[in-house]
Amino acid sequence: MQDQTDASMVGTLRTLETPRLLLRPWRDDDREPFAAMSSDQDVMRYLLPFASPGAVTAWIERQMSHLRQHGFCFWALESKQTGEFVGATGLHRLSYDAHFTPAVEVGWRLARKHWGHGYAVEAATKALQFGFEYLGLLEIVANTAPANVNSQKVMTRLGMTHEPRDDFDHPLVPKGNPLRTQVLYRMSRGAWLTRAGWSEANNSPGGAGEGNRTLV
Ligand SMILES: CC(C)(COP(=O)(O)OP(=O)(O)OC[C@H]1O[C@@H](n2cnc3c(N)ncnc32)[C@H](O)[C@@H]1OP(=O)(O)O)[C@@H](O)C(=O)NCCC(=O)NCCS
Repeated sequence: MQDQTDASMVGTLRTLETPRLLLRPWRDDDREPFAAMSSDQDVMRYLLPFASPGAVTAWIERQMSHLRQHGFCFWALESKQTGEFVGATGLHRLSYDAHFTPAVEVGWRLARKHWGHGYAVEAATKALQFGFEYLGLLEIVANTAPANVNSQKVMTRLGMTHEPRDDFDHPLVPKGNPLRTQVLYRMSRGAWLTRAGWSEANNSPGGAGEGNRTLV
């Protein structure tokens, strides 16, 4: 993982755009739909629950603080067509020690009514593009509980790969909690560039000099 991008990212409250979605900074009016999503058992089945309403607010504040510090976070997802809050997707520096850290993860959580439309893959593809092509990250990881098949399908659709020897016990999940065991998926910058049709040699799809193009 490269660190030198952080200085130029400080204070950059960037919005990314896909055909159907905005990945944007959090707003005050996201709190209510995010809290509703976070009390839905289907959404939270493989996530640690928030201990209190204050913890929901603190999670959003952590994203904004991460965005201000690093230039990326788990952005709020908004439907371009309806303006509706869809969920959260993006990149985050892992804050715990594990055999694969320091690392940046890609992650997603969508309100139940927005599952099954390809939004998670659409948003996460943009986040990966930002991470590899703009931030210059060398690797991005994702993790989830082994039983979270929906999330692993997203990882596979993104082209991330899984080696069972990478699986780990999550240090922030209490011992005895079934969510403590996690599978780890990885994607390297080389794999992303190959998948996106880029050449490592000239760092662009059709010529030199586009490696740091603006994504929005
Ligand atoms: C994990 C999660 C984000 C996946 O959501 P999702 O909508 O299934 O993800 P995708 O973006 O990959 O959508 C793919 C589905 O949309 C369908 N789809 C419909 N229209 C589509 C389109 N235009 N393009 C792509 N896919 C489309 C696909 O057929 C596929 O359905 P299938 O899985 O039944 O085959 C969602 O289940 C979730 O929020 N879970 C709870 C939170 C969570 O566990 N997060 C991960 C923690 S590690």
